[in-house]
Amino acid sequence: MRDESLSDSLLAWYDRHARAMPWRVGPADRAAGVRPDPYAVWLSEVMLQQTTVAAVRDYFRRFVTRWPTVTDLAAAEDGEVMAEWAGLGYYARARNLLKCARVVASEHGGRFPETREALLKLPGIGPYTASAVAAIAFDERAAVVDGNVERVMARLYRVETPLPEAKPELTAHAAALTPAERPGDYAQAVMDLGATVCTPKSPACGICPWMAPCAARAAGVQADLPRKAPK
Ligand code: ADE
Repeated sequence: MRDESLSDSLLAWYDRHARAMPWRVGPADRAAGVRPDPYAVWLSEVMLQQTTVAAVRDYFRRFVTRWPTVTDLAAAEDGEVMAEWAGLGYYARARNLLKCARVVASEHGGRFPETREALLKLPGIGPYTASAVAAIAFDERAAVVDGNVERVMARLYRVETPLPEAKPELTAHAAALTPAERPGDYAQAVMDLGATVCTPKSPACGICPWMAPCAARAAGVQADLPRKAPK
């Protein structure tokens, strides 16, 4: 059975402490029924791969100002997009971004497909991005697992198996915890928790909404997890 008290306590924390980001829908808008724009969610998630939130903010704003919809982006020249991307690194991401935008524009009428399964068929969209867009934009109960989420799961459940071997187990924990209600907020809440509280070094357990149930904290081994296989 899913432990709803864990996701409930994290969502309550997120409602108070979510980091404001230009692609997120704030609490007031959310209460009014505003949904995140799938294009903004997809663009931000591609930019956030290997790049910090702080570095992505300005790039994201420039992109959506210049190309407000995926159809606008699809019509851009390759060189213009590469020039706006300059500095974000990993240029294959920018090329895949444009490829994906063009398929969404030409084969889907400019609307992103609404399920994880259909999103996975788009060029450049892998399991992480498909889950993130499905959960955040379309409220599908998809587990979103990045490095932050792996660390939080390793500590909460005191997984002593080293990475990368532990990945399937950590993913299973993340999936089991993902609630049917607000899975997109929940996904972003775990990522925020990992980025701001359950940090790699000196985690701030005293302010963590999961301090009481955390198995690593109970054993005093939180700073040692996740373990990494020797190189
Ligand atoms: N890292 C990647 N995507 C994120 C998101 N939507 N919220 C917080 N951190 C993230």
